[in-house]
Amino acid sequence: MNANALRSSYLHFFQRHGHAIIPSASLVPENDPTTLFTGSGMQPLIPYLLGAEHSQGRRIADAQKSFRAEDIEEVGDNRHTTFFEMLGNWSLGDYFKQEQLSWLFSFLTDTENGAGLDPERLYVTVFAGDAENNVPRDTESVSIWKKLFAEKGVDAKDVELLTESRGGERGMQGGRIFYYDAKKNWWSRSGTPDQMPAGEPGGPDSEIFYEFSQVKHDPKFGNYCHPNCDCGRFMEIGNSVFMEYRKNADGSFDKLAQRNVDFGGGLERIAAAMRDDPDIFHVDVFDTAREDLTALTGKPYAGNEQAFRVVLDHIRAAVFLIADGVLPSNVGRGYLVRRLIRRAVRFSDSLSAPSEKTSSRDMLGSVAQKFIDQYAVAYPQGYGLEGDVHHIVAVIQQEEKKFRATLRKGLEELEKMIGSFSPHIDAHNSSSDLREVDPVQAFLIYQSYGFPLEMIQEELGRQNLFVDEKKFQTEMRKHQELSRTASVGAFKGGLADHSVNTTRLHTAHHLLLHALQVVLGPDVKQRGSNITGERLRLDFSYGTKMTDEQKAAVERLVNEQIAEDLPVIRSEMPREEAEQLNAEHEFGQKYPDRVSVYSIGPKGAIPEHPDFAHAFSLEFCAGPHVQHTGELGHFSISKEEAVSAGIRRIKAVLS
Ligand code: ALA
Repeated sequence: MNANALRSSYLHFFQRHGHAIIPSASLVPENDPTTLFTGSGMQPLIPYLLGAEHSQGRRIADAQKSFRAEDIEEVGDNRHTTFFEMLGNWSLGDYFKQEQLSWLFSFLTDTENGAGLDPERLYVTVFAGDAENNVPRDTESVSIWKKLFAEKGVDAKDVELLTESRGGERGMQGGRIFYYDAKKNWWSRSGTPDQMPAGEPGGPDSEIFYEFSQVKHDPKFGNYCHPNCDCGRFMEIGNSVFMEYRKNADGSFDKLAQRNVDFGGGLERIAAAMRDDPDIFHVDVFDTAREDLTALTGKPYAGNEQAFRVVLDHIRAAVFLIADGVLPSNVGRGYLVRRLIRRAVRFSDSLSAPSEKTSSRDMLGSVAQKFIDQYAVAYPQGYGLEGDVHHIVAVIQQEEKKFRATLRKGLEELEKMIGSFSPHIDAHNSSSDLREVDPVQAFLIYQSYGFPLEMIQEELGRQNLFVDEKKFQTEMRKHQELSRTASVGAFKGGLADHSVNTTRLHTAHHLLLHALQVVLGPDVKQRGSNITGERLRLDFSYGTKMTDEQKAAVERLVNEQIAEDLPVIRSEMPREEAEQLNAEHEFGQKYPDRVSVYSIGPKGAIPEHPDFAHAFSLEFCAGPHVQHTGELGHFSISKEEAVSAGIRRIKAVLS
C-alpha cells in the first residue's frame, strides 16, 4: 500500500464510523496571529474543541498539512521532517476513549482495510497523573488497551517507569503499556500544563509506538530502553489526545463543557511502520524526488543520507508553503521559506563535484516538480498544488539562482582571504595534515559574508585548513557581547559590567522571574535586582518563606528552559504595545516611549517574528543577553531570605 492509498484507507475507515471528511486547512493559519504555521491538525479546530458548532458535525477526519519550523535543524536523521501530513480524527464532544482506542487499534492492525501492523510490535503510553493540576492517572485507557491487546492474543502488562519524565531507569520490564508524566503524555498546542496560556484546551494523551524488528537498543541512549527512548527502536506513529481540560487564568484546570478526542498520526511514519523500515525517506512519497536527485548529482542515497534528507524535506516543505502563498523574503514566514531553499542549495552542493558548485544550473526546481507530481492526486487544484505548478517551480528556481550568485561572489572573496591566512600552528596538531587557522580570521569571514560555519569549514578544508569550532564560538560570543554593549550604551540597570558571566546571569534572571510566577503565582513582581559576574540577586514581592519544594520546582523549571536551548530575542516597540503584551517591568520605573523588550522562547521563534504569546519570559529590558538559553549551564538557588515585609530575596548562580 502506498502513501496515497494509506491516506484514503484511513479517511474511509473513519468515514465508515460516521466521520465527515474535511480538506486540509492552509499551512498559514487563518485568524491566528500568534502562530506562524499550522503545525498540527488541531490548530484549525480549536474553536470547535472549545464548543463552537462545526458545520460538518461532531465526528471529523482529515489529513492536515503541517509544518514545524522548530524541527529544521533536526532534519537529517531517519525520522524528522519539517513538513508532514497528519492523519486526524476528531470527536467534538461526541465519542471518547473507548471508541477512539478501539477504532485506532482496529485500523492499525486490520490487514484488509487498514495498515495491517503486527500487534506484537505495537506499544502504548498513557498519562501517569498530575496531582498538582488535579488530573488523574488514565487508568481507563489502560483497561481499554489491555482488552484490545488481549483480543489479539497479546499479553499487555502496564509498567511504571522510574523517573518522572525521561522514563528510562527501569526499562521495558516486559511491559506493553507505559506510564509517563505531563512532559510526554499531555498535549496542548503550547506544550505542558505549565506552558499553556490561560484559555487554551489540552489534555492527557495516549501515544502508540511501533517497534522496528531490525533495530536493537543502543546503550549510547541510556542503559534501559523504553518507548520514548531516542535509540530508534521505537517510533511514535499516533497520538490520541483526550482533550477535556481548559486552563484558567489562575493556572488551575477545569473540565471543558464537552469531552473531545484529537487524534493525530504521521502519514509517513505509519507508512514506515508498514514497511518495517525506520527510514521514512524510503516511503514512496519521496521516491521520484530521491531518484531525481541521484540523477542530478550522480550520487546514490545510500551513504549520502543526511544531504539527501535535508534536500528532500526542505524542498517538499518549500513547495507546500509556496502553494499556500508564502514567498521567500527576509522576514516572518517568508524567511523560513528562504532558509529552507538556501539550506537545500548548500546540502545539494555537498553532493556535487566542486566544479559544479555555484554553477547556475537549476537543480531544486527539478526536485520540486517531482513532489508536485507526486502530490497532485491528494492535493488537487484549489486545495494546494496543481493549479500553481509553474509558479511554485519558478519561485524555487529564482531563489536558487539568486542564492548561487551571492555564494559565488562570497566564495571568491573567501578564497582571497584564505590565501592570505597564516596557519596558526598548534603543538597538538603538528602531526596532522590539517592546519588550524586563527579563529579571529575565520570569524571575520563569517561576519563579512554571513557564511555558516559549516561552509567556512568546508572551504578551509579544501586548502587543508580548519578552524577550531570552540574557539570560533568564543570569538562569536565576544563579538556579540561587544556589539550589544555598544548598542545599549545608555543601559543603567543592575548589572555590574557586561562580561560573559554577567550576561548569562542576566538571562537566567529573566527565567527565574517567570519561574517564580509559575511556581508562586502571578502576583510575584520584581522589586529590585543586582547582578555581578558571580551571582544574580532578585528581590520580589511575596509574603512567606519559600519551601524547599518550591525552590526545587523553580530550579527545575529554569533548568528545563536551559535544556530546551530557547532563543532569546530582542524587539523594539512603543511602550504601550509592550504594556499590552503584559511584558514584565519593574514597579515605579519610568520608561521611554519606545522600549526594548526581550522574549525567551518558544523554540523556533526567530528575530524577525518573535512569538510573544508563547514566549516563556517577556520583559522590558535593555539587555545584554545571551542568544540561546543553552549557553547558561546549570542554574541553582544559593539563598532565599526576607528583605522586608512582603519582599523576598533570592541569590542564584550558574555553574
Ligand atoms: N494534536 C496531537 C499531536 O499533534 C494529536 O500530537
